[in-house]
Amino acid sequence: MADRYDALYRQSLEDREGFWRDAAKLIEWETPPDEVFGGATWFKDGWLNICHNALDRHVFAGRGDQPALIYDSPVTGAKRSYSYSELLDHVSRTAGMIAAAGVTAGDRVVIYMPMVPEAAFAMLACARIGAIHSVVFGGFAAKELAKRIDDAEPKLVIAASCGIEPGRIVEYKPLLDDALEQSRHKVDRCIILQRPEYRAALVEERDEDWHDAIAKAGRADCSTVSADHPLYILYTSGTTGIPKGVVRDTGGYAVALAWSMENIFGVTAGDTMWTASDVGWVVGHSYIVYGPLLAGATTVLYEGKPVGTPDAGAFWRVLREHDVDIFFTAPTAVRAIRKEDPELDLMGGRPNALKAVFLAGERADPGTLEWLSTKLELPVIDHWWQTETGWPAVATCFGLGRSETLFGSAGHPVPGYAFEVLDAKGKPLSAGEIGELVVKLPLPPGCLPTLWRNHDGFIRSYLSRHPGYYSAGDAGFIDDDGRIHIMSRIDDVINVAGHRLSTAGIEQIIGGHPAVAECAVVGAADALKGMLPVALFVRKANGDADDRTVAQEIVARVRSELGPVAAFRTAAAVEQLPKTRSGKILRSVIRDLADGREPKVPATIEAPTAVAMAKGALASVGYPPSPA
Ligand code: COA
Ligand code: AMP
Repeated sequence: MADRYDALYRQSLEDREGFWRDAAKLIEWETPPDEVFGGATWFKDGWLNICHNALDRHVFAGRGDQPALIYDSPVTGAKRSYSYSELLDHVSRTAGMIAAAGVTAGDRVVIYMPMVPEAAFAMLACARIGAIHSVVFGGFAAKELAKRIDDAEPKLVIAASCGIEPGRIVEYKPLLDDALEQSRHKVDRCIILQRPEYRAALVEERDEDWHDAIAKAGRADCSTVSADHPLYILYTSGTTGIPKGVVRDTGGYAVALAWSMENIFGVTAGDTMWTASDVGWVVGHSYIVYGPLLAGATTVLYEGKPVGTPDAGAFWRVLREHDVDIFFTAPTAVRAIRKEDPELDLMGGRPNALKAVFLAGERADPGTLEWLSTKLELPVIDHWWQTETGWPAVATCFGLGRSETLFGSAGHPVPGYAFEVLDAKGKPLSAGEIGELVVKLPLPPGCLPTLWRNHDGFIRSYLSRHPGYYSAGDAGFIDDDGRIHIMSRIDDVINVAGHRLSTAGIEQIIGGHPAVAECAVVGAADALKGMLPVALFVRKANGDADDRTVAQEIVARVRSELGPVAAFRTAAAVEQLPKTRSGKILRSVIRDLADGREPKVPATIEAPTAVAMAKGALASVGYPPSPA
């Protein structure tokens, strides 16, 4: 296939309306949009239902018997395949169940579920009736769930009794009960999927067993919604402990995803895509649930890990067994496999259908890229995007005929995105100069139009820093060939095993410990997870507990308030934190020390000895780690 990228990229910027008008034809509209872009909204006068496009449409087109969703769960031993007709049946009945719970278009439904097919049924079912889903990742603790419940104000919560992690059952239902105790917003109705591994106690009047509820309910048809109707709210970490409710509209998202499936991932009807992520993240929303189904492809929903379920051969087994064409995972998962099986002895035969591997969620280090591309002799494609964009913004467009594995760059801008790099004052920088990565407005379809009930926060967080641009929150540079290199975040967000966390949020939890006077949390480099949070804390003068006890309590506190997903295990006491004379904590100095770099200590430091103290405290907890 000839490389069509350049021409399409140019068209996407020079003839934006024409480009997206063509792309909109990938979607079946109840009322096709006349207006492509109206200053703030894409396809505003178009009416559609995304669930119809993901399911009914393919059944009407004769693909009813094709597998739509394959559930593969090494943690339970279950494997099930749902054809498009079967998935449609499950989703219509789930939609009937949700409607019977009193949910109507525009109402919110919080979904707190592990990687089970019912999570996808519930998402699609909400979309079917125009309800707005908000999926909360299972690795978050009750308090985080409560924050999301308070912000989204759902009419209904759908949860599973438990999730299954290697070696332990995570009881979700008690976490939900705790969250509902903590939340100000009162939820009258919960539907609980009782899993055989743990049957939860149900609260009378409020909770109903999924199977009982669905048995009583009829099927629900698609409700048509306007293109700007919110499909979902997905909370993500920002610079504070308060999660940001990213809103996704329906029409723009459907068009962008359908376009991306074909042109970025090269996946069309009948192909199989496996995205090894979780429905709780944007990657799961876009490329486990909506994207592959919009394309008429088969999606794999995997409840397991890259290693330990049962071993580092698990991914290859899934790729082989389900004839996966395109695989999407996080660099951390590849590093975990490489660590346990560097020669791929556990591969057990090549996954013959596989055409390319896509990596995202965190920086793909060249070593990992090189190892995987050499071992597989296939393109390994790094690509960059965020919860906010909803779909890739920087990539190598495999579907447009590009297949080069790039080392160090996440690729070229995806059609629709005009990137620039600015300095802190907003001055455009030249090729090769590192600065803030921004996208010239307007953002293409699919990207967030606002934050849930917080439009001012949306403007403040993303649009006001550099007027005329969307600020992505990442630093990077564009090289002479127009490739984009992502360096790091410019804010307090860190990335732990591809999971986005706010260090400020962790600091807030630690600061709540009665013995802690102040603290600083940084993301220290980690060979497996990319980054791990590490805390230095200063104790209050009058406390009784010793440093070690306080450190242990801090670790336990973060696990119970934020959740195990933070993988927070390291806190060290220090007499003083390095600060500027104006009192600003020098987190970059702490990060440099933790990573074993010579810190750039500003001249305006309050007490130079604080740097040595921080260094000593970090050394006492194993930072910087000695080279492997
Ligand atoms: N529900 C409840 N708990 C969860 C969970 C969930 N859905 N997901 C993770 N956790 C828990 C884990 O059990 C673990 O708890 P522990 O501290 O008791 O061991 C903790 O959260 C951290 O989990 P995880 O990040 O999965 O680390 P791990 O050490 O268990 O596994 C890897 C290491 C590399 C295998 C794992 O991090 C991994 O698969 N990473 C890839 C992640 C990914 O795909 N991200 C994509 C985002 S786009
Ligand atoms: P999330 O919103 O959870 O998907 O996290 C998005 C953030 O993850 C981005 O802003 C980046 O900081 C980081 N990220 C995602 N993909 C990449 C990538 N390919 N390279 C570097 N960083 C990435």
